[in-house]
Amino acid sequence: MCGIIGYIGEKKASPILINGLLCLEYRGYDSAGIATLEKDGITVKKDKGRVKNLYNLEGIDSLEGTVGIAHTRWATHGKPSMENAHPHLDNSSTFAVVHNGIIENYSELRDFLTEKGYHFLSQTDTEVIPNLIHYYFSQDSKKDDDQLLRAVKSTCDDLKGSYAIEVISPLFPDRIIVVRKDSPLVIGTCKKENHIASDIPAVLAFTKNFYLLNDQEYAVVYKNRIRFFDASLVEHTKAINNIEWDAAAAEKDGFEDYMLKEIYEQPNAIRETIGSRFRLGEKCSFDDINLTKEYLSSLDKIYFVACGTAMHAGLIAKNVVEKLCRIPCEVEVASEFRYRDPIIDEKTLCIFISQSGETADTIAALKLAKQKGCKTLTITNVIGSSITREADYTIYTHAGPEIAVASTKAYTSQIVLLIILAMHFAEILNSYPEEKIEKLKADILDIPSKIETILDNVDEIKAFAKKVYTQKDMFFLGRGMDYAVSMEGSLKLKEISYIHSEAYAAGELKHGPIALIENGVTVIGVITDPKLVEKSISNMQEIITRGAYTLVVTNQVLPNVHFNSVINIPETDPLLSSLLSIVPLQCLSYYISKNKGLDVDKPRNLAKSVTVE
Ligand code: M6R
Repeated sequence: MCGIIGYIGEKKASPILINGLLCLEYRGYDSAGIATLEKDGITVKKDKGRVKNLYNLEGIDSLEGTVGIAHTRWATHGKPSMENAHPHLDNSSTFAVVHNGIIENYSELRDFLTEKGYHFLSQTDTEVIPNLIHYYFSQDSKKDDDQLLRAVKSTCDDLKGSYAIEVISPLFPDRIIVVRKDSPLVIGTCKKENHIASDIPAVLAFTKNFYLLNDQEYAVVYKNRIRFFDASLVEHTKAINNIEWDAAAAEKDGFEDYMLKEIYEQPNAIRETIGSRFRLGEKCSFDDINLTKEYLSSLDKIYFVACGTAMHAGLIAKNVVEKLCRIPCEVEVASEFRYRDPIIDEKTLCIFISQSGETADTIAALKLAKQKGCKTLTITNVIGSSITREADYTIYTHAGPEIAVASTKAYTSQIVLLIILAMHFAEILNSYPEEKIEKLKADILDIPSKIETILDNVDEIKAFAKKVYTQKDMFFLGRGMDYAVSMEGSLKLKEISYIHSEAYAAGELKHGPIALIENGVTVIGVITDPKLVEKSISNMQEIITRGAYTLVVTNQVLPNVHFNSVINIPETDPLLSSLLSIVPLQCLSYYISKNKGLDVDKPRNLAKSVTVE
């Protein structure tokens, strides 16, 4: 859950490294540091706190080195402090290392090294790495050009857990050695310089040409070439990926925060996700997966497995797939699924949803499903991310880079893609009337402009946010898919406003939660399903009678009930309404957080990619 950057070229490395870290701060932001190769060896500058603090560190401006590594941290082992910040050095200050991931057997390795006379300055798991490199380097009698690479490899052979590592040393001043396992790492390449990063947007300003490292693949990165090696250090060549993302798309573009920008990007993100998946009058096209009628008819279950917001997209998908394909679906959070011995086999299709494609629990759940004989399909936004290398099939959302920790456009793009996938399955299975699918397609094409209409009218939401931002608790209510949207609305609010909130299926209210309703408590209702309007209204009446302060998001004509605020959204097919009803809830969380003066994009204790269990 940390971010790493590396630079080797002809320019001063330090400003490039710090800028890169600023782009990766969403991955972790409790401490930061850089190490560059200077004339007299390695210089490390690091401290606790945000990346921007690095600018104030003494001597940072006088760094001249053109080779360097950098890190922004989300603490796992050892509290945020200067000592625990990366980069870490070995005891002789010959090797500097940054690391993203977790070394599970670090305490065993520490004992081993301590016995050999090494000592440790931090509480981190990472500090064993530079010292192990030193240990193996000094054990190696073959003093050739690959001695450092071999020492890094021997070190990695000892590590259990996940890592993306960069290593520099004044003994080999012309290179950075990198390797990854279950943590992301990309190398952006351009003329006379190479950039290393945890994700693509961090170096998009320099290049669109990337090498995506595989698990346990090593790279020796020089300023004008890169050598690649497999886990046994057999050298090989590697293809470049050309990434079409726009560098401006990863910047704020005049918006105050990434989250707001990403909320407003939803219409275009959805247009991109639809892409050429379907045209009116034609069948949906998924050339990237090959699931036959025979296979789909043999399924007795589809599982959607994911975490957080991505899991909430799965809840919507369950409803749509069951309706269109009549295949029973289950939705489960990955951290539960993977430890539960789920009943799945070759008759289960497992669909894994992950914006980042790096979520540790989701990847582990996918590996488990494969072991049990299921076909695995992943839906992700990040090209070449770890999950894509594990799954049988990958389909991309094409929502563009999502930087804010709170997911918005990834969620709506995931839902759109899942709905198109459901239509594709229904077309193969002939399980839903053709004309109804055709109508659904037309309605999907209208969704982006309907979201634009909602986003052009946010004054009511802003006003409501101003009235309730000091509240301690809030409740979200809905039935059916409106309940799934309520769960996502509630998660958004918790994440960025730190207000406690709960989402309930409106029909459950009387079975307990209504005891919490008293004068002035804020309750937000989502009412879009025409079949359930009356039921939902009755539930809202019950809480109004008990003094609740209410907001309703709806596209229905509601009976004459006094709500404190009503947000009217455009009508659409009930299967699609989550794509519209979530938008005011995203905005509500955003404006509540702004009213509280909080850091919307980097909420406390959270990170964008949860690459640890
Ligand atoms: O990258 P992923 O989609 O796998 O991430 C899953 C969750 O960590 C993520 O959705 C998280 O809940 C977000 N912060 C929600 O806004």
